[in-house]
Amino acid sequence: MNHRFITFEGIDGCGKTTQLQCTAAWLKSQGYEVSVTREPGDTPLGAEIRHLLLAGEHVPVAEAELLLFLADRAQHVREYIQPALAAGQVVLCDRYTDSTRAYQMAARRLVDEACDLEALLDFAECGVRPGLTLWFDLSLDEALQRMQRREAAGEQATRLDQERQGFHQRVAGAFAELQRQQSQRIRRVDAAASIEEVQQQVRTLLSLHLAGRT
Ligand SMILES: Nc1ncnc2c1ncn2[C@@H]1O[C@H](COP(=O)(O)OP(=O)(O)O)[C@@H](O)[C@H]1O
Ligand SMILES: [Mg+2]
Repeated sequence: MNHRFITFEGIDGCGKTTQLQCTAAWLKSQGYEVSVTREPGDTPLGAEIRHLLLAGEHVPVAEAELLLFLADRAQHVREYIQPALAAGQVVLCDRYTDSTRAYQMAARRLVDEACDLEALLDFAECGVRPGLTLWFDLSLDEALQRMQRREAAGEQATRLDQERQGFHQRVAGAFAELQRQQSQRIRRVDAAASIEEVQQQVRTLLSLHLAGRT
C-alpha cells in the first residue's frame, strides 16, 4: 500500500478529471509535490495501447481487452508511478485497478473458474496499491447529461462510452459493491453536488488521509 498514491474512480462523466485538476492545484498550494496521471495511456507505449483499446480499428475480445489494460498499467506503474512516489510526490491517478474490476470484469461478466483474475490484477500493479481511492458516486442519468454537455463542447466519446445502458449499469453497480467491500480504502464522494462542494468533500478526505502519515 502506498500512502501517497491516490486514485479517482467512478463512471464516465462523474467528474473525476475535473476534481483531479482542482485537487492537484490545491495540494500544490499546500506545499505538496504532485504528479497527475491517468489510465489508460499515460506513457509512450501506453498511448499506443490506449489507441488500440479505445479508438482502434479492431474490437478486442473481453480477455484481450483485460490484458491490454493490464499491459498499459504495468508500463505506467514501472515507468511513471513508482519513480514519482520514490521522489516523494503525491500521485493522483485518474482510474486504476478498480476501473478494471468494474469495466473489464464485472460489466463484461468476465470470470474464469480456472484462473484467479485478482492475482493477475496484483501482478499488473507491480506492488503499487493506492492508499486512498475516491469514488465519485453519481447516477447514470446525471452522468449521461454531463457527458452530452462535454461532447457538445468538443470531447469525443470513446468505444467504451458507447456501450449499451446495461453495461453502464453493471459498471455503476460494481463501483458501489467495491466500496462496500473495501470501505477502508475506497471513500464515497457525493458527486451530484456542485464542483466546489465536491471539491470540499475531496479536501476533507485527503486532509485526513495525508495527516495520517506525514
Ligand atoms: N459537480 C459538477 N457539476 C456539474 N458539472 C460537472 C461537475 N463536475 C464535472 N462537471 C462537468 O461534467 C463533465 C464531465 O466531467 P469530467 O470531469 O470530464 O468527468 P469524468 O472525468 O469522470 O468522465 C464535464 O463537462 C465537466 O465540466
Ligand atoms: Mg475523465
